[in-house]
Amino acid sequence: MESQEIRERFLKFFQDRGHKIVSSSSLIPADPSVLLTTAGMQQFKPYFTGEKDPIKDFGAKNTVSIQKSFRTSDIDEVGDDSHLTFFEMLGNFSFGGYFKEEAIKYAHEFIAKEMGLAIDYVSVFDPSMDSGQEGFGRVVPADTESEEIWKSLGITNIKKFGRKDNFWGPTGIEGPCGPTTEIYVNGVEIWNIVFNEYYCKTRTDADLTRNNAEIKSELIPLKVSGVDTGMGLERLAVAVQRKKNIFETDLFEPIISQLPNDFEEKKKRIITDHIRGAVFLIADGVRPSNKESGYVLRRLMRRVMVYGQKVDLRSLILVIVDLYGGFYKELDKSLILEVFDKENSQFSRALTRGMKELEKLSTVDAHSAFKLYESYGLPYEVIKDKSPNLSREDFDAEFQKHQEISRAGAEKKFGGHGITEGDLTASNAAEMEIKTRLHTATHLLNAALHKVLGDKVEQRGSDITAERTRFDFVFDRKLTPEEISKVEDLVNEAIKKDYPVIIQKMPLEEAKKSGALFFYQGNYPEEVKVYSINSFSRELCGGPHVKSTGEIGRFRIVKEESSSTGIRRIRAVVE
Ligand code: ALA
Repeated sequence: MESQEIRERFLKFFQDRGHKIVSSSSLIPADPSVLLTTAGMQQFKPYFTGEKDPIKDFGAKNTVSIQKSFRTSDIDEVGDDSHLTFFEMLGNFSFGGYFKEEAIKYAHEFIAKEMGLAIDYVSVFDPSMDSGQEGFGRVVPADTESEEIWKSLGITNIKKFGRKDNFWGPTGIEGPCGPTTEIYVNGVEIWNIVFNEYYCKTRTDADLTRNNAEIKSELIPLKVSGVDTGMGLERLAVAVQRKKNIFETDLFEPIISQLPNDFEEKKKRIITDHIRGAVFLIADGVRPSNKESGYVLRRLMRRVMVYGQKVDLRSLILVIVDLYGGFYKELDKSLILEVFDKENSQFSRALTRGMKELEKLSTVDAHSAFKLYESYGLPYEVIKDKSPNLSREDFDAEFQKHQEISRAGAEKKFGGHGITEGDLTASNAAEMEIKTRLHTATHLLNAALHKVLGDKVEQRGSDITAERTRFDFVFDRKLTPEEISKVEDLVNEAIKKDYPVIIQKMPLEEAKKSGALFFYQGNYPEEVKVYSINSFSRELCGGPHVKSTGEIGRFRIVKEESSSTGIRRIRAVVE
């Protein structure tokens, strides 16, 4: 059975059972607290919590989707038989429509009858398998109900695991969570069925995706229990197509078979995974940069470029677009190639020099690894190949240190990969100039929003690319067209007055007392800079900014939308 047929059968199976088919959301999540979309449930969070009504939006309490997902936490596992960065997650969801009985019966029927697979064993939640339930803040009982349902279906090989394996929540952020039951085929976990009974408040661990032992959260029972399931299409295809690993399935074979025979298998798998992931990230609007999702993309692309120096990567991209473009219409060949070519030409010169430097070193510690990254853009993975003792944690710690230094000091740094100035990073001076204009415009926007909408407005995040600024803020409803034009007008008036931008350094506490706006979730040093624009705007910031507002040009809001519950998102440009 080809994977396209698996996709169709999955959607149809659940559609026939009262589920509304919902398209995949973007890999760039609406929720600003997460970097990338890691699970199918992400776009449905407000339906689990009761903030949104599924009947109103989908005409049903149950949905089914094939979600484009990306897990940075698995990046170091890529190359084995089953781990990927980007993958397609098949999932059915219910927001108070059905619960354990139907969810398990559907899954069983789909695996056993539709796919014709034998279930090795299943697992259910049992807290007595843990040493304790510290951190849960409440006792979650063993899931004997699921156990009984499986038995009634003739599945008797049932394993019991504690919260590390059988309790799921969107890690790193708050969200619906609960005990899970998992299905194993050929010894591999293929389907995770989550019974969302709680809302996890304040998850503090760093791992963004996996079931996790370090849950330190308060569990608040949800009003309505829900079902959230996730099954990797790639792993399912291995079982259905009777292959040994994901790369032998029709989802990868056409790609990996293009790579030279004399390449080591692991290298081929990494190139295949990373280039496929990069294609999907680019198609959803991510661009290589040194920050957040842009940095993830850059890592993937650069690793591919290093490993694939003798490979025609452009034609590999075309193979991927051909293979996936039928189902994912957003894959735009020319756009993807354009982004690829740009990064490739920027990187290739630095790469040659960086590889030479790397060859010269006998051992590489985290500090010199970071220097190689900073000066030549060599990705961690490439350096790690030559220095097995290097650890990701140490490298990340160096990276973090660097970010703190550049934020606090606002100094200029020139490296092979770009310029960092204060809070901004750009690949060249022209990009820095446009981003600086957008940065000052963002301050004016923040101030104008306070003036028009009142002091409920509170910044929740912002992101500036060479194309636009994106600003998230707390506000409980959609803005009216009048409000939007009022905000625009205020900003444009301030630009027209050509106010000078004034910088003052002061202790953090003093700055806060002065009434300057600041980002509550920001990390500020003890001495901060306050940027004032007449009496219009006063804000804590690392800079850089234009000298006077006239440099900004015309300001225009291009989009106002919900970003997540209670958070609005504005995208704006300067022209
Ligand atoms: N949300 C669950 C997962 O990602 C189904 O595993």
